[in-house]
Amino acid sequence: MTISGKAKLAGVMGWPIGHSRSPRLHGYWLAHYGIDGAYVPLAVSPERCEMAIRALPALGFRGCNVTVPLKEIAYRTVDRLDRTAQRMGAVNTIVVHDDGTLEGGNTDGFGFLQNLQAGCPDWSAERGPAVVVGAGGAARAVVVALLDAGAPEVRLINRTMARAEELAATLDGPVTVADWVSRETVLEGASLLVNTTTQGMVGQPALDLDLRALPVSAVVNDIVYVPLETPLLAAARLRGNRVVDGIGMLLHQARPGFKAWFGMEPKVTPELTRFVLEG
Ligand code: ATR
Repeated sequence: MTISGKAKLAGVMGWPIGHSRSPRLHGYWLAHYGIDGAYVPLAVSPERCEMAIRALPALGFRGCNVTVPLKEIAYRTVDRLDRTAQRMGAVNTIVVHDDGTLEGGNTDGFGFLQNLQAGCPDWSAERGPAVVVGAGGAARAVVVALLDAGAPEVRLINRTMARAEELAATLDGPVTVADWVSRETVLEGASLLVNTTTQGMVGQPALDLDLRALPVSAVVNDIVYVPLETPLLAAARLRGNRVVDGIGMLLHQARPGFKAWFGMEPKVTPELTRFVLEG
């Protein structure tokens, strides 16, 4: 749609940014709801990130999303952090307030939980232990979200165990770490398995994890969404587990930012999902 001189402005900062689906996602919602606004890709190098964030109020932006590898820089740059961003140590959503101050939030964990709930409405974190594979920023968001949602235990496994231990040490709550060699035994009795690593993504090998010890009642989720059905999800589906793919995490994490910048609560629909995946 055509924008006017009064268009509300937002965007996504990242480096590189060409692969981001967020402009397509927010662009769909802007057109769908007939909002006079624009959401643009902002290619910002890490060296210029602080300056670019500081410039948002001067440029009249209502805020922006922040993606890899700038989330920690954003965390250090904004004027205020909401409670979730404080716990994550990373910011993915910045809101410019009327007084020009910058507030940082993190909606990755929200997106993760909303996606699971949409995919498996009867799933709840309290139901049993969760196994999380990985120890990067995505793993942190997932573990914090699960703890906040009441998971009785989170079992963290990562190829480099030391990284999992470092992550667990920064979190309050029932997080246990197992070494990579024992990764299959921690699947016993789990009610959820989440892959937060890049394994299984197009061009990468499948996650090397035998699911034999996982209860068939467990839900399996991959945050990778290219391809939509990763080898992990295909294997889980074949043995009877319920599976939730990763695209919904991207779609749902975008909702709070859209609401803050453009003034309405957007919906995640099958048509939106298809549109974003086609791009
Ligand atoms: P992000 O911050 O987006 O989560 P990251 O920090 O690059 O990304 O983390 C990638 C994850 O994939 C890590 O947990 C990494 O394990 P290491 O900590 O051992 O590097 C995991 N990963 C990458 N290649 C892997 C492989 N071949 N087998 C198992 N895990 C792998």
